[in-house]
Amino acid sequence: MKLQTQISIKSAFAVQSKAVAILLPEKFSVKDLPQDLPDCGIDIEQFLQEAKFSGAQGSVAHLTIQVKPKKIMHLCFAGIGSKDASKKFNLEVLRRAFGTIVKWAQAKNYDELAINVPEAKDYGVDVDYFLQQLTVISYIAFYKFDTFITTIDKKDRERIIQLFLCVASADKKEAEAGHEKGVMIGDCVNQAREWVDTPPSKLTPIVLAEYAKAVAKEQGLKCTVFSEAEIIKMGMGGIAGVAAGSDQDAQFVILEYKSKKPKAQTIAFVGKGITFDSGGLSIKPANSMEEMKEDMAGAASVINALAALAELKPDVNVIGFAAITENLLGGSAQKPGDIITFYNGKTAEVRNTDAEGRLILADALSYAVKHYKLDAIIDVATLTGACIYAVGPFFSALLSDNDELAQKVYKAGELSGDRVWRLPFTPDFKEAVKSHIADIQNVGNPAIAAGTITAAWFLRHFTGDVPWVHLDIASSAYNVPNISYFGKGATGSSVRLLIEVAMQWNNK
Ligand code: BES
Ligand code: MN
Ligand code: ZN
Repeated sequence: MKLQTQISIKSAFAVQSKAVAILLPEKFSVKDLPQDLPDCGIDIEQFLQEAKFSGAQGSVAHLTIQVKPKKIMHLCFAGIGSKDASKKFNLEVLRRAFGTIVKWAQAKNYDELAINVPEAKDYGVDVDYFLQQLTVISYIAFYKFDTFITTIDKKDRERIIQLFLCVASADKKEAEAGHEKGVMIGDCVNQAREWVDTPPSKLTPIVLAEYAKAVAKEQGLKCTVFSEAEIIKMGMGGIAGVAAGSDQDAQFVILEYKSKKPKAQTIAFVGKGITFDSGGLSIKPANSMEEMKEDMAGAASVINALAALAELKPDVNVIGFAAITENLLGGSAQKPGDIITFYNGKTAEVRNTDAEGRLILADALSYAVKHYKLDAIIDVATLTGACIYAVGPFFSALLSDNDELAQKVYKAGELSGDRVWRLPFTPDFKEAVKSHIADIQNVGNPAIAAGTITAAWFLRHFTGDVPWVHLDIASSAYNVPNISYFGKGATGSSVRLLIEVAMQWNNK
């Protein structure tokens, strides 16, 4: 099934849709019900009361009615909560209501679904952004990784569900502009998810780099790809060290978006692209390895954020870097105890080959700060298991010693719904990655237990003077529970966030 969305200036009941969703706030009254709700002989208020529908976040009720002889219509009531102290509804609550509604229509196979879009000003945003967000979340909710399920026939795969987003006619132009961007951003988020969900032997480093090239070609981005031989020759001992245990060629990809605005600032996004993380010789236990195809989620985010930005054209230059390899344990794999030299000349003792993400990022960050004049650098990585316990699945962890940039990224997270939570990053933790026989070591001293923070301090050795934010998305990239618009598998976390950071870059 495919989702197709469109803006309509008819009301949800006027578009003749099989399914209609009705959004209601907490403590709703009859006047909150659509004026043109068809008479079906049911007292809707009484129905909602008996269905224990409160209008709170997550509350939902379904009702199938007969509107004309022989015409059946399916209704989904979804709660949008109540206004906060500043008299605004919460956009994330609405996103989740949309998630519930879209997944319902998808599960029921309804061919059409119509929703009256609430007033953007009740959410404190303009119509353009509002429709963009609602469109994005509809596509996110509709995503399913079913490529390998053979029982779905061709006809079913190609079936289209129409979603009508019904707005006031005065808002049509703005709504359509937002909708168009939303379709594109939704596609980019889902593309990142598809790459993450793709089995690791089907998405090898070369395949991922080829995808990046294809994105660049389609969007007119400058693209540079270094092969493993070139990586070794350039002195990128981190990427080379991790790649040594794999038969697949490592890749270092650079995508560049250039703004037309003269004197635009330049920001870099750097993604971890481990297409499979076995742990290397410090091999993972079987159950921890099961989902390690997700370990290229950072690279997927960076590439797809650039794809979106090439179309959105913000007034900031954006350079995307993706360090891509497998972490396996072949005969020439790097060993615990090895000392490697990175692109910036620093050395590290590899105590644990499973702490490989920081090794490949070290080279990518060094390269970025050496060859580009950057105003900011943001890296994205499924870097530490500890992150999952530190912030839980609903946030990515943010680490930085630059308050201004940290705040900018935090705000973009709150706005986009792709949220981050900042962890401490004081110099106390820096001690943890000191080594006796090299400049640094790739595991933190266990006395300073905070693994997500000490990993970030490792990266800090490679970012020079450039304002830097590290995002650990190990928590949020995969299998996020209880959020209506996600399902099992990849979430695309940080794609929306990176796009928002670039789009808001010149705003205070
Ligand atoms: N890719 C993992 C981190 C991870 C774990 C991501 C779970 C997603 C879900 C990373 O390469 C890793 O193995 N980190 C080690 C570091 C340790 C050896 C210092 C970890 O967190 O256990
Ligand atoms: Mn690892
Ligand atoms: Zn890893």
